[in-house]
Amino acid sequence: MPDAISFLLNGELRRIERPAPERTVLDHLRLVERRTGTKEGCAEGDCGACTVVLGERAGDMIRYRAVNSCILFTTELDGKLLLTVEGLQDADGGLHPAQRALVEHHGSQCGYCTPGFVMTLFALHHAPGMTDEDSIHQALSGNLCRCTGYRPILAAARSVAGVGDDRFARMARDLLGRLDGLRRGSGMASAIDGEYGRYDAPESLAALDRLLAAHPDAHLLAGGTDLGLLVTKQHRALGHVISLNRIPELRRIEAGGDALIVGAAANYTDILPHLEKDWPSFAALIRRLGSWQIRNLGTMGGNVANASPIGDSPPALLALGAEAIIRSAGGERVLPLDRFFLDYRRTALGAGEYLRALRIPRPATGDFFRTYKVSKRFEQDISAVCGAFFLRFDDAGRVALARIAYGGMAATPRRAAGAEAALAGRRFDAAAVDAAIAALADDFAPIDDFRASAHYRRLLAGNLLRRALLERTTPETLAGVLAL
Ligand SMILES: Cc1cc2nc3c(=O)[nH]c(=O)nc-3n(C[C@H](O)[C@H](O)[C@H](O)COP(=O)(O)OP(=O)(O)OC[C@H]3O[C@@H](n4cnc5c(N)ncnc54)[C@H](O)[C@@H]3O)c2cc1C
Ligand code: FES
Ligand code: FES
Repeated sequence: MPDAISFLLNGELRRIERPAPERTVLDHLRLVERRTGTKEGCAEGDCGACTVVLGERAGDMIRYRAVNSCILFTTELDGKLLLTVEGLQDADGGLHPAQRALVEHHGSQCGYCTPGFVMTLFALHHAPGMTDEDSIHQALSGNLCRCTGYRPILAAARSVAGVGDDRFARMARDLLGRLDGLRRGSGMASAIDGEYGRYDAPESLAALDRLLAAHPDAHLLAGGTDLGLLVTKQHRALGHVISLNRIPELRRIEAGGDALIVGAAANYTDILPHLEKDWPSFAALIRRLGSWQIRNLGTMGGNVANASPIGDSPPALLALGAEAIIRSAGGERVLPLDRFFLDYRRTALGAGEYLRALRIPRPATGDFFRTYKVSKRFEQDISAVCGAFFLRFDDAGRVALARIAYGGMAATPRRAAGAEAALAGRRFDAAAVDAAIAALADDFAPIDDFRASAHYRRLLAGNLLRRALLERTTPETLAGVLAL
């Protein structure tokens, strides 16, 4: 069993013996490799200066994804291709199309953000179908520039999006062979007991069950977009990390049947096309979660297990009636999500238990669902309030089932029992919505903090429900609301 990880850095084989579980890729690049092209801006996944690209086999292709190296641990490079800005030029010094585009469109001034933009543009170059304006904006959502202005950078991005005809495309077969060789050759590390801590990467649920039973206090690692901040912002040593990223069942998304089953370690980028089909409003919300880089790593399982009161997916999941599939060495249990969040950052997961998947019921004909997030910035920002509204109607057009949930209104993401009761059995019209908004005052006692005042939060919670009404509305109810 190897006690080292192996990966390709810009095509060259690298091996790290006994890596510390919380050593970041950014630190490794700058401090060990002395590749200082990759910059540190914020060290918390916000600015994109540290963007690198990870390449992995996806069928008979390599899938390239932009990620934040400041919150990615080196252990997760095992068996992968890591590309940095130093590795893009041709052997004769010719610029990569992503670099050339930024030069030709005057997309750089001081240059600090530029390596990060180059790597995002590289990933966009290799992202099939991401050529429309919306996709291009989404791809750039995780890179900040303080001096150039975004117009020239956008022009550069438009010129390379989805083209994918560079030398990496031409040498894909060779790179795939070498990636496969990494796995076959020395094998990938499944357990490393090092000077600075322990790292496990089990490959099956049964192996994870055993590990967690023996080490209930170990940190589970999915995308690391929350866990990484414990290291970079709180300077915590994690001690023992168990990665969930090598277990195929945890990354699987099952779309057949009457529910979508999302493996707890499936990332947002992979989940999005499924949400798009059944709940476009949920997909639109997730496209605003973090940035492209964050969605490439972050998982819905991590968002739920992290149990932040302002996580974006819990309100929608609560309103859709999702269930948590919880597993341990003792077996599995299924818990409605509204019994999962117990208190501030406290969940119903017991010692040795983990989230295996989320089960999200599919919509029936006529179901209405909307979810909205209010934050100071459109992208790369945490919600002040997030609301989600699910309604099912009877044959007479009355509300047969209402599930309303909010984030940012209490210590946990929570349903609004009073507002739901106020809508039950009534037409979904302005009068019913007024009654529901009045009930919200008893449902929640939000707090003031730097994101929003309690007063603003209360106002938002009601207005988001009004917005749902407007979007559901017939001309008749619209007239009612406008008359208010
Ligand atoms: C720059 C930035 C922007 C962000 N923007 C948003 C945003 O807009 N909206 C939002 O909601 N969040 C946001 N986040 C937070 C974060 O990206 C999400 O919460 C994400 O979904 C976490 O998933 P992950 O896989 O990265 O979790 P990880 O960091 O891997 O894990 C999070 C926690 O859950 C535990 N855990 C993970 N998987 C499991 C499991 N299967 N069972 C039990 N425990 C588990 C881990 O041990 C850890 O405690 C942002 C983060 C950053 C850095
Ligand atoms: S340094 Fe800012 S996102 Fe990594
Ligand atoms: S060119 Fe200076 S920060 Fe972007």
